[in-house]
Amino acid sequence: MKEIKIGILGFGTVGAGVVEGIQKNGSLMAERTGITPVVAKIADLDITTDRGITVDDGVLTTDAMAVIADPEIDLIVELVGGTSIARTFTLEALKQGKPVITANKALLADYGAEIYKTARDNNTGIYYEAAVGGGIPILRSQRAGLIGNQIESIYGILNGTCNYILTRMEREGLPFDEILADAQALGYAETPPDLDIDGIDTAHKAVVLASMAYGAPVPMSACPTSGIRGLSASEIENADELGYQIKLLAIIKDNNGEVELSVEPALVPKEHMIASVADSFNAVFVKGDIVDDTMYYGRGAGRLPTGSAVIGDIMEAASDTLNRVGPPVSVTMMLQKTELKYCS
Ligand code: HSE
Repeated sequence: MKEIKIGILGFGTVGAGVVEGIQKNGSLMAERTGITPVVAKIADLDITTDRGITVDDGVLTTDAMAVIADPEIDLIVELVGGTSIARTFTLEALKQGKPVITANKALLADYGAEIYKTARDNNTGIYYEAAVGGGIPILRSQRAGLIGNQIESIYGILNGTCNYILTRMEREGLPFDEILADAQALGYAETPPDLDIDGIDTAHKAVVLASMAYGAPVPMSACPTSGIRGLSASEIENADELGYQIKLLAIIKDNNGEVELSVEPALVPKEHMIASVADSFNAVFVKGDIVDDTMYYGRGAGRLPTGSAVIGDIMEAASDTLNRVGPPVSVTMMLQKTELKYCS
């Protein structure tokens, strides 16, 4: 049995979910893979707040850079959020040849090209399944099961907060702000939640998903975005009377060799499967030229669903590292093409 020593940076909602998941199922993971995941260090500026889980003495620290530099630590899990200090930590860990697992869609959307290249140049990996679709293994499906397909279109509900708000506005007729406060309390929303309700979080995920589907980093500027801020109860009611539901959709299409992206509230006919996706659930429809239609569905936000995706990446990164297989497909695929065309 081999051990992999994990350094987690950021002990917030998702960080606590990762630790809880490993405490619960670490021995199952070890049984299945022959690798025991060990949470060796957790760095956060706040190491006193109770997260509802107990960790061993000496695990918590406020010094993230020391965790990255610690020769005992095999891989780094970046859950700090934002694009400033998270970028510094990620690049530093990669430069030290350590694989990085992240749930940070904003970081990848804004600095993906630099991060993928740094990973490749240092013969290591960046793993980011948790960045898109919470607990749904949607990126893995793109780079594994659908690798033989030309992706024709993707339609996704990718933001749990917005879908939760839309669902409760429609079912309970409650005001927007009241439901948003609940979404924050449940740990779904970003800080600040403007990123969710203005569609920016969905756009971050859309460009990461499009990058994976088309094999090159897609810039945020290629994704015209509008969110659900200001949507009124009467707009939802009117749509309902006409047989539609309003859903915030990421739409990605291959338009004769040009990639077309957008994020917008869309009228979805009630009989369409995507209309039945409720609460904080996400769903992604992918059409490939060989496979035809596929659909992926699951919890798109929250402590344990996102923690589950991070844990999957930890085990993949551990296996890649111990078997010295070099950068994973999620990195190499992204650096194949020198040019991708976008619709303007
Ligand atoms: N704020 C995000 C959401 C969290 O609501 O979907 C998961 O990425």
